[in-house]
Amino acid sequence: MLVSPQAERNWESLSLVLEDVLENQSHRQLSALELGSGTGQHVIRFAQKMPFVTWQPSDIKEESLESIKAYIAATHAKNVQQPVHLDASQPSEQWAGVSRDSCDVIVAINLLQYSSFKTAQGVFNGAGQVLKQNGLLMTYGVYAINGTITPSCNENLDAELRKLNPDWGLPDIDVLRQLAFGNGVRLERIIEMEDYFKCLIFRKT
Ligand SMILES: C[S@@+](CC[C@H](N)C(=O)[O-])C[C@H]1O[C@@H](n2cnc3c(N)ncnc32)[C@H](O)[C@@H]1O
Repeated sequence: MLVSPQAERNWESLSLVLEDVLENQSHRQLSALELGSGTGQHVIRFAQKMPFVTWQPSDIKEESLESIKAYIAATHAKNVQQPVHLDASQPSEQWAGVSRDSCDVIVAINLLQYSSFKTAQGVFNGAGQVLKQNGLLMTYGVYAINGTITPSCNENLDAELRKLNPDWGLPDIDVLRQLAFGNGVRLERIIEMEDYFKCLIFRKT
């Protein structure tokens, strides 16, 4: 099982955000898709905290899929499906059989700054397709705002990411807002988190 210290630190605050935005729907059985699940720590914790949600984890890396499977087995999680290989940069018709209008929630944690703009395009295009009406997309990460990155630690993070891969870097909230809008998805809330991270809550309208 892979372990991410950052995921161990942030899962609880992320879970609180999700529990808050889904609170008024907790009487229903919801279906959630996680993109770029990584180790699987988040999805297991979310499943424990929100038993009314059935979670579908996914990633492009085989080692992540293996790690998620190991967490599912170790925790006997009932409301987490086996992980699927899903490349979020691809059209949603290629999203591992996730069908149109089938998801109440999509979660993408620390995905957008560690992937290319094509992935951001894929995430919002896919959200427009696979979310149900009024479904939610939550992205979590560090962002530029209107072309500006502050404070300096975030500028350094952006430079480090670009050094690792020239296609990576902090996505701009205004660019994401426009991408979302073009796909019938609206930015509804920006929630400040620890260490200048933010949760962006989008809704398919
Ligand atoms: C920085 S990690 C974050 C993992 C996890 N969400 C977390 O916060 O601990 C980024 C993850 O996104 C995955 N990823 C990168 N590009 C992707 C893509 N195009 N589609 C799906 N997953 C992708 C990587 O394999 C990696 O597991």
